[in-house]
Amino acid sequence: MAKKIVIAIKKGGVGKTTTAKNLAAAMSLRGHRTLLVDLDQQANATKGLGFDPEALEGTLNDLFADPTRDAASVTLKTDIEGLHLLPGHPNLSKTETGMAFQRADPSAPDPIGALKAILEPLEDSYDYMVFDTPPSINFMTINALAAADELVIPAAAFAYTEDGVEKTLEEYRRAIKSYNPSLRLGGILITRVKRTNASVAVLDGLKGSYKDSILPQAIVESTAVDEAEQLSQPVVVYDPESIAALGYTLIAKILTGDTANEQQV
Ligand SMILES: Nc1ncnc2c1ncn2[C@@H]1O[C@H](COP(=O)(O)OP(=O)(O)O)[C@@H](O)[C@H]1O
Ligand SMILES: [Mg+2]
Repeated sequence: MAKKIVIAIKKGGVGKTTTAKNLAAAMSLRGHRTLLVDLDQQANATKGLGFDPEALEGTLNDLFADPTRDAASVTLKTDIEGLHLLPGHPNLSKTETGMAFQRADPSAPDPIGALKAILEPLEDSYDYMVFDTPPSINFMTINALAAADELVIPAAAFAYTEDGVEKTLEEYRRAIKSYNPSLRLGGILITRVKRTNASVAVLDGLKGSYKDSILPQAIVESTAVDEAEQLSQPVVVYDPESIAALGYTLIAKILTGDTANEQQV
């Protein structure tokens, strides 16, 4: 059985995709067979690993459309040893709208468990699955929360981040109560930390509000992340010694249990 980790927060531009991509890459670099699952219609995780969703023969969206289709035939090998990708596609937005209609029709099957069913045949092929999600809590996010073992909330050290964290925690509590009682909170990962007063103030606010849930290593804003993105590489591959890469590697170790609890940089 693969351990499944969903990266989600109701906010865009906070480092969800960067986190999903780098945690998945860091896990595979440490020898774990890892599948990155791109549930966002923007398909940035897919593009960020060098694939054009429009040019692919199959994507996650085709698996939603035809659950009898072989999931393994749609997964892609990446340039990183041990890292596979279940690619996203812009048409995930149409599938998501369809799911909302389906949910409203009491005679239709419940769409919440679709992702879980798609991933079941792949369970034994991977040690970890990491889900990248859209910036809203839509049916793609809910499918990810329903299929996952653990939720990691990437919270950028920006204004209004606490709103996003709070709305995501509300959905997490709803998931536990109604559709995935075994979901656990892996932690809140503070990302994009700058050495400015505003950034430090948000960081302090998050630590004050959620102290027990904050992962013991924040991710610093680093030009290496942008440079890596230009080259369609995760920063843990592009510049493993950069401060952001070291942060992601430590978080990957914590989530995989490879370290009891190393302390921060
Ligand atoms: N630690 C970081 N340092 C520098 N740039 C970052 C960092 N994390 C994310 N970014 C950049 O911020 C932008 C948004 O990040 P992204 O991961 O796509 O967010 P989301 O998926 O939440 O919308 C991207 O251009 C990404 O390269
Ligand atoms: Mg994204």
